[in-house]
Amino acid sequence: MNIEKVLVIGAGQMGSGIAQVAAQAGLQVYLYDIHRAAVTKGRQRIEKSLSKFVSKGKLREDEKEAILARIQDSTSLEDAAHCQCVIEAAVEKMEIKKKIFQEVDQWAPQEAILASNTSSLPITALASYTERPDRVIGMHFMNPVPVMRLVEIIRGLATSDETYDAIANLTEKMGKVAVSCKDIPGFISNRVLQVMINEAIWCYYEGAATADGIDSIMKLGMNHPMGPLELADLIGLDTVLAILEVLQEGYGDPKYRPCPLLRQYVQAGYLGRKTGRGFYNYE
Ligand code: CAA
Repeated sequence: MNIEKVLVIGAGQMGSGIAQVAAQAGLQVYLYDIHRAAVTKGRQRIEKSLSKFVSKGKLREDEKEAILARIQDSTSLEDAAHCQCVIEAAVEKMEIKKKIFQEVDQWAPQEAILASNTSSLPITALASYTERPDRVIGMHFMNPVPVMRLVEIIRGLATSDETYDAIANLTEKMGKVAVSCKDIPGFISNRVLQVMINEAIWCYYEGAATADGIDSIMKLGMNHPMGPLELADLIGLDTVLAILEVLQEGYGDPKYRPCPLLRQYVQAGYLGRKTGRGFYNYE
């Protein structure tokens, strides 16, 4: 299957990044969000990211303009009707994703693939909300999407080989590396990563070191590009909490129990970079 047009659902940091790399790969993109203001914000994020590439000499100004011209604003899921592929990047809430998958299944052409950028929710369950479970798949990008090379590809129980091949090809076309993973809670990336982040939050909660101290230990001692607490702020603390809850429920193992401080930060609206405050202050 030749994928030329995609609908990206959700214009947040992940959705806008996905729309950007799709447009960079030459695809026509519809960038959808419920409110036009959210789409405008997503577009501004894309412009900023592309300008970074221009200032580094990795992209020409005219190429940047051409990429932006391939992205069309959307506030209607009916735009799925024009696309061979839909990539959903809405918030990590099953109820919301369920509604989106049910609706988009009505609009997308019969042969179109419905992919989800979910970071931990079961693909098999998402597929069950549609009439095309063989054409539903997980396409899990990493943040920041324009620079991270991995896309974790998750096959649901009914995902067909044709769907997998089409999405692996699309991933490659976007300049990324596809790595396959089974449909287990948290997949591989978050099953491993979030345990480390949660442990770092426990260390901070217990007063074992400052946030900067914990991050410095992991950066200088393990050569991680970012410390676990600054990475949590980048991912979003609400997302970190949601993933830990999926892991805890999915495996029933107390090792995934979210640190109470994480829960409290989320309750307070300290969600990391996107709200200007998390383990660090960004204002
Ligand atoms: N758009 C374009 N370019 C960007 C960018 C963006 N959004 N963000 C960073 N860059 C570029 C920078 O301009 C810079 O380019 P050059 O190398 O050409 O100078 C390069 O990326 C490196 O950036 P910086 O010099 O600013 O800073 P850095 O060296 O610390 O790199 C980073 C930034 C790439 C984010 C790096 O810190 C890193 O790899 N951090 C870890 C990120 C990570 O682990 N992501 C996965 C999170 S988990 C996830 O996403 C999945 C989930 O489900 C939760």
